[in-house]
Amino acid sequence: MRNIDLPPYAPMLIESTRAIGYSLEAAIADIIDNSITAKAKNISLRFLPYSDPYIAIIDDGIGMDEDKLTESMRYGCADPNGIRESNDMGRYGLGLKTASLSQCRSLTVVTKCNNTLFGRQWDLEHIKATGQWSLLALDEDEMLQLPLIEELNAHESGTLVLWRNLDKIFAGEINVEDAMTEKMDMASKHLSLVFHRFLAGGDAEQKISLIMNGDIIKGFDPFFTTKSRPAMDEERIDIPQFNSSVGVYPFVLPHPSKMTKDEIEKYGGKDGLRSLQGFYVYRNKRLLIWGTWFRLTRMDEFSKLARVRIDIPNSLDALWTLDVKKSTAMPPEIVKTRLKQIIKKIVDNSKRTYTFRGKKETRDDITHVWNVMETREGVRYELNGDYPLLDKLSEIIDDEAKKLLDDYLYSIESNFPVNRMQNDIYNEKKIVKDNNDAQFNNIKSQLGIFIDAAENRKDREQIISMLSKTEPFCDYIDRIKEIVMEDEDDEEV
Ligand SMILES: Nc1ncnc2c1ncn2[C@@H]1O[C@H](COP(=O)(O)OP(=O)(O)O)[C@@H](O)[C@H]1O
Ligand SMILES: [Mg+2]
Repeated sequence: MRNIDLPPYAPMLIESTRAIGYSLEAAIADIIDNSITAKAKNISLRFLPYSDPYIAIIDDGIGMDEDKLTESMRYGCADPNGIRESNDMGRYGLGLKTASLSQCRSLTVVTKCNNTLFGRQWDLEHIKATGQWSLLALDEDEMLQLPLIEELNAHESGTLVLWRNLDKIFAGEINVEDAMTEKMDMASKHLSLVFHRFLAGGDAEQKISLIMNGDIIKGFDPFFTTKSRPAMDEERIDIPQFNSSVGVYPFVLPHPSKMTKDEIEKYGGKDGLRSLQGFYVYRNKRLLIWGTWFRLTRMDEFSKLARVRIDIPNSLDALWTLDVKKSTAMPPEIVKTRLKQIIKKIVDNSKRTYTFRGKKETRDDITHVWNVMETREGVRYELNGDYPLLDKLSEIIDDEAKKLLDDYLYSIESNFPVNRMQNDIYNEKKIVKDNNDAQFNNIKSQLGIFIDAAENRKDREQIISMLSKTEPFCDYIDRIKEIVMEDEDDEEV
């Protein structure tokens, strides 16, 4: 056998790697990963949608010396199987190049280190012309003419990643300016989610500031931590072969009736709460994938409030088969098996939040307006024939009115708009009810009937005890107690 040295043909290989499938937002996130790894605290994302459009990411990280910069521009500059620092967000030694050139035809990286600027550029036209892996080194004058160079220069150290000749972003667009602004707007939303554990306002644990064209990108915490409740304590799944572990932390969002319309929209996005249930997998605190149960359970209506945070360290990349774009990763069997057990608990918990009212009605000792009964044929909703107000009413009306009342109640029961309501809930419409004050006024006006029947203090205490177990009085029992007893005090005077 003899050896033939067969390096890839640069213009074609680069052109092919452009089609690796990065979205604009995933590409930007990959560049921001590099800034975070370089210990940047301030990251500025800038874009210009007209004249000579560009997208730039400027950070105040540690920067690179000249050799490091050159090496970093190489496709495959790091061993994909190497052990990385635990806070390193990289893996394949590709992102800087593949993410950037998936969006543009000219990538310039300028870095400031020890008060000196170094610049390198991959330009696809130049590579096409030379037919070689021809990296360009910028001289000082060329660097100083680059857009945003002064923003980089204002930092002690840092790096500017500049994308120009943005062919992918403008492909097929009519109004390029609007198209870019819209896409960057979407990217900003994506970044506020995937980096929420770094960004202020999003439950930041490791703070960075991210600013897009002067506007702060605030973190968006998908767990609504301030209002959700944890479904169970944080759990760790040990992976002994890798001397490592995975963290699992489930949350149950508040019941939609406890959320405002804006909150439902905010936490449900354009496809609704249901589509965003599931695992949220973080690698080094950066969100990789979300809104999936990895087929371990169904994306069920009743589990839609469950969101489970999973934390994986970068030492488990191979096990999770992390892809180059950092947009897919699958749990290994050892984790899946454990997740399957945990999932049941979590989903049951979400279901409970969701069906709380229904279950409570059939099982607790409260007298409800509606009774819910699980029958062989299905669930039956019935008006409670023993409801106290109905009893009182029956005492004071004649038989003819009683018959009419029964018929009326029956038609309410049998014409309850179940299908419509189910549809509205499914579509996360807010079901409007009278506010508490209006409800309380109605309750107050009903109290008279009970009070009139009371002859002494004992009767009143009995009334209170009965109302404390009767819907909707039980929700206002302290205020009701005051009214019922206060009235008695008056009598005694
Ligand atoms: N903003 C930056 N600041 C400092 N160093 C950087 C920056 N971006 C990239 N680098 C260096 O370039 C290398 C290559 O980056 P990249 O191609 O994204 O691969 P990876 O992140 O997988 O290592 C990084 O390992 C890092 O050393
Ligand atoms: Mg990287």
